[in-house]
Amino acid sequence: MADPRLAVVGATGAVGRTMLAILEERDFPLADLRLMASARSAGTVIPTRWGEVEVEDLAAADPDGIDIALFSAGASRSRRYAPEFTAAGAAVIDNSSAFRGTPEVPLVVAGVNDHAADAHRGTIANPNCTTMTLMMAAAPLHRHAGLSRMVAMSYQSVSGTGMTGMETLIHQTGLLLQDREALVSGDWKDPGSGPFQRPIGFNVLPMAGAIADEGHTDEEWKLITETRKILERDDIAVEPTCVRVPVMVGHGISATMWFDSPVDSDTARRLLEEAPGLEVWPDDRVATPLDSAGSDSVLASRIRGTLGAPGGISLWVVGDNLRKGAALNAVQIAELLL
Ligand code: A2P
Repeated sequence: MADPRLAVVGATGAVGRTMLAILEERDFPLADLRLMASARSAGTVIPTRWGEVEVEDLAAADPDGIDIALFSAGASRSRRYAPEFTAAGAAVIDNSSAFRGTPEVPLVVAGVNDHAADAHRGTIANPNCTTMTLMMAAAPLHRHAGLSRMVAMSYQSVSGTGMTGMETLIHQTGLLLQDREALVSGDWKDPGSGPFQRPIGFNVLPMAGAIADEGHTDEEWKLITETRKILERDDIAVEPTCVRVPVMVGHGISATMWFDSPVDSDTARRLLEEAPGLEVWPDDRVATPLDSAGSDSVLASRIRGTLGAPGGISLWVVGDNLRKGAALNAVQIAELLL
């Protein structure tokens, strides 16, 4: 492909802004850049390394002439507008959940299942940020021994809920800090919930996403179905719990995995040390969300063998959900298309 004409849809959002930053950092070869968002942002001028670009109203934008469109404006916008873009000849890389379950749409973690992108018919889906981070560690182990069972607990940052999530955490933290004693005595005043079910400042919400089938949230279902699709094995038993924590950026996952054949911790550590895009941190320097913020690598630590049901591996992974969890992977998929 010659240098593509590229559009970022949702360019003013948390992921869209990170997409722009990453395109710049990676010196992405562009013939033209267009930025789109809601009518609220239309007319805003954003300085980029390719010059100043005026944000267009997605609803009024003509997709003609766009070669690659990176969509991150929510699933309903993807459902509504992505087909128009593909019909006009664009390859759409969609960060929403809109098409991830569609059989003919590849779900690609760059560096893990790049081959799947070859079969695309216009749309490629970017996996959920928690699943993506976990797959960076699960895939090398799966390729070695065949992943059969996994219990996964996520610790998801507020930026997974976009700019509103981040603003809510800052706002609630400020409000709650006005009366520190109340945080201990329990007399705190409700700071509101914003996009979450309960306050997130100084708190933990054992329910990330919205309740869907069988008492599990949509986030938890994504971990089940996307893991199976990415690893190309339909019978992996996944038991997920998705938790929201008062962290700005960086989703952590504590996972225990069992395989068709036993894996010991030394083998797991070696495989993960060799895996692209992954850094293994020693136990005396535990990788945290703060360490992951702004990093393109997913960080793994606490790698250990299971005790109660031997032969499995428990580990911790954490990654910047706006980068590898979303924008970086979308840009890497665009690079695959080049
Ligand atoms: P806008 O900033 O104009 O609202 P985030 O997840 O960080 O909140 O970002 C969501 C992104 O999706 C933003 O760029 C936002 O644009 C965009 N968006 C939200 N609603 C619409 C819509 N109805 N049409 C087009 N873009 C939208």
